[in-house]
Amino acid sequence: MEGLAIIDASTRVLCLIGKPVRHSLSPVMHNAAIRALNLNFVYVAFEVEPQDLGKAVEGIRSLGIGGANVTMPHKIEVVKYLDEVSEDARKIGAVNTIVNEGGTLKGYNTDGVGALKSLEMFTDVDGKKVVLLGAGGAARAIAYTLSGRVSELAILNRTEEKAVNLARNLANNGSTVRGMRLSVRNLENELRDADILINATSVGMESNESLVPEHLLRPGLVVFDIVYRPLHTKLLRDAMKAGCTTIDGLWMLVLQGAESFKLWTGHYPDIRIMRNAALKALGVEENEGEG
Ligand code: ATR
Repeated sequence: MEGLAIIDASTRVLCLIGKPVRHSLSPVMHNAAIRALNLNFVYVAFEVEPQDLGKAVEGIRSLGIGGANVTMPHKIEVVKYLDEVSEDARKIGAVNTIVNEGGTLKGYNTDGVGALKSLEMFTDVDGKKVVLLGAGGAARAIAYTLSGRVSELAILNRTEEKAVNLARNLANNGSTVRGMRLSVRNLENELRDADILINATSVGMESNESLVPEHLLRPGLVVFDIVYRPLHTKLLRDAMKAGCTTIDGLWMLVLQGAESFKLWTGHYPDIRIMRNAALKALGVEENEGEG
């Protein structure tokens, strides 16, 4: 392995807690960024059972672990074990990043900012109409971050009630936010004048499914899929064929990770290095992974 950092008595540990974590790209991505900056940190993954979450968080505190990412299924539950929670994370109702400030554990959520920055690498979001599929944890973070920036946000979810509730909670953020059932008819109506379509559901993950009929995709639409396994989901392949601008889910993984990295180390990492490390771990050639 090239450029392996020397681990010594001063090395600070960063970690991921979740279950499962064995296929996570976060360790390779963060360790590549750590090496590139020559920092004395190391990032490891810990598989934590739900009933052990409280003890794991105490372990972060007592071992002086510098910071952590929190992933499925702990993002909501973890809040109750932390000393402080940022306003964003509180509003989103989920934490994906913990910073250990001298024994005080503070929770943040970088998913929404990661998604916003992914979009901003390819398009302007201000004043745009966004169609968001999903109303789960990831969708909530994205909806919260986009509301107030976009002119209109239509949230479509299989379980209608969750979309309606999410829209209601975001009502006073400055954008027109509407929640509705995910149906072909609603998709058709909402996509007609939309600028950006985001899939924030798990549909397409390790499958060849898409929630969006191909004929609704057209040039001029920006299509962002937060799923990154496979990198080119059916939705993104259909969107490419239709002439849309496409954004894959690895951008969001990298950019949320970069925000967490900055919180832990004070340095904003090289996102190209992080993305390339993640692409390599996914087994994707670099030119295949563009955009
Ligand atoms: P995450 O934290 O990754 O967002 P989650 O909170 O479990 O995960 O949310 C998963 C999202 O994918 C939800 O919006 C879910 O819709 P429901 O709220 O109706 O469950 C959506 N989803 C999962 N499988 C789906 C499917 N087959 N069709 C449509 N939506 C689906």
